[in-house]
Amino acid sequence: HEIPLKKKSIVFIGFMGVGKTTIGELIANKLDRDFIDTDVEIEKEYQMPITQIFNTLGEEHFRKKEKEFITKLCQERFHVISLGGGAFLQEEIRNVCMDNCIVIYLHLPWDSWKNRFPLIIESRPVLQGKSMGEIEEIFNKRQEVYSKNHFKIECEHLSAEEISTKILESLK
Ligand code: S3P
Repeated sequence: HEIPLKKKSIVFIGFMGVGKTTIGELIANKLDRDFIDTDVEIEKEYQMPITQIFNTLGEEHFRKKEKEFITKLCQERFHVISLGGGAFLQEEIRNVCMDNCIVIYLHLPWDSWKNRFPLIIESRPVLQGKSMGEIEEIFNKRQEVYSKNHFKIECEHLSAEEISTKILESLK
């Protein structure tokens, strides 16, 4: 029993700081659906910011929680969901999202992304203590993981409004 396209949840993937939350919220509003940011939900459950979860419970614990939460959520319909940027590293998450949802990859080239780095570093434990060269390596490796998607949207030089128009066009 295949879920009709119009009922499927929409899932945003992509590297930290590309705008998954901003765009997700915008699309949810336009489609009159609810919006769920998986990091925000996990932070609410633990009553701690992600950085503190990483520091006290460890990344492995966070990844387990992320898997549990997302695999369940992605089998529900009508949501717009923005995933934490590392979630797609887990095969089980990739599969459940690809099978049940419409997966939209928000892409920025490295040269544009690196300008956003100072704005996001503080709340991203995965990037902390790393050199720009190391971060570029992670960035490049992750592109492979994000290559599993239904739609790839190029976001460079576009406003959030323009990106959301592009997305709605793809979904037609
Ligand atoms: C992570 C991305 C973050 C958050 C955590 C780990 C990652 O989400 O889940 O800090 O490994 O890429 P955003 O992509 O929303 O920043």
